[in-house]
Amino acid sequence: MSTPLFEVKQLDVEYQMKNSRFMALRDVDLEGYLGETLGIVGESGCGKSTLAKSLMRICSPTHGRLFFDGKEITSLSSRELRKAIRGMQMIFQDPDASLNPRMTVEGHLKEAITTSKVAHEGTVEEYIKELLNMVQLPHSVARMYPYQLSGGQKQRVSIARALSVKPKLLICDEPLSSLDISVVAQIILLLKKIQEEHGISYLFITHDLATLRYLAHRLLVLYLGRVMEVSPAQDVFSEPLHPYTQALMASIPTPDPDASYEPAKLCIVGDPPSIVDPPSGCVFHTRCPYATESCRHIAPRLKEVKPNHFVACHLYDLS
Ligand SMILES: Nc1ncnc2c1ncn2[C@@H]1O[C@H](COP(=O)(O)OP(=O)(O)OP(=O)(O)O)[C@@H](O)[C@H]1O
Ligand SMILES: [Mg+2]
Repeated sequence: MSTPLFEVKQLDVEYQMKNSRFMALRDVDLEGYLGETLGIVGESGCGKSTLAKSLMRICSPTHGRLFFDGKEITSLSSRELRKAIRGMQMIFQDPDASLNPRMTVEGHLKEAITTSKVAHEGTVEEYIKELLNMVQLPHSVARMYPYQLSGGQKQRVSIARALSVKPKLLICDEPLSSLDISVVAQIILLLKKIQEEHGISYLFITHDLATLRYLAHRLLVLYLGRVMEVSPAQDVFSEPLHPYTQALMASIPTPDPDASYEPAKLCIVGDPPSIVDPPSGCVFHTRCPYATESCRHIAPRLKEVKPNHFVACHLYDLS
């Protein structure tokens, strides 16, 4: 395989609360390649956004190392960091929160273009047209303010702004969850097209496995801040190995009611335990139908069970 575009090694992130601290991420390893979509899934509060923010160093790692585009970025000064991660952009769940209500679409794009000096002054107008074209918005929206746009149009503007600096990696943190269902499919198709045409990578965080089935090349499953499974998407959708992943997959609605293949339904019951006081041993053991004595005491390590398919579960200790 080629050199990864980004790498996270043995990442721990500890948050400080009023009177205590807790590990939001523990011993997380991952890497992503140019042109690839790495999907991150897991229940609310399992650390998905913390992982994305750590990669951008918005959150400081307590332990571990971060690499982007051939450079270690773990402890760069903020000035060095800004330069080193220029090729990494993020789009968020709520475009309203990241757009300035008093700035036109053109203003947002101009600001991003001039700050990053990606186009010469005389070519900015032309470049804005090109960006709007790329996200399939008519040029007439350039003069509009965010309140004049629909949710889908605003998210397209956020995408155009992120693309304006010609990123190699676009981190998408639940970019579809605030959108009307009717525009979700259009944005997914747009992201896929942009990736095919520009060869960029996505780190794509979502609760919606159906979206990842379409977009992701590989999938990473998080539970209470720990990696449970990492695998090529095809493998994990057709044969999830971790009991937690099996339960997640079983929760995807089957689109075809006449489909002959019906995976054995495995349900996880109850709410996840508190990340502030996680269970001993395997953190999933309190909800796992296969838990044994060793699961209660020994945390399983992530191991490669099939080519490029890693799982942290004692069920696979002997394989
Ligand atoms: N700055 C912070 N200080 C303290 N705790 C935090 C902070 N940010 C997040 N947390 C907590 O850390 C845990 C992981 O949060 P994170 O936002 O990464 O989860 P998530 O998987 O993105 O959840 P969601 O799916 O709801 O967006 C949660 O328990 C959250 O409440
Ligand atoms: Mg989040």
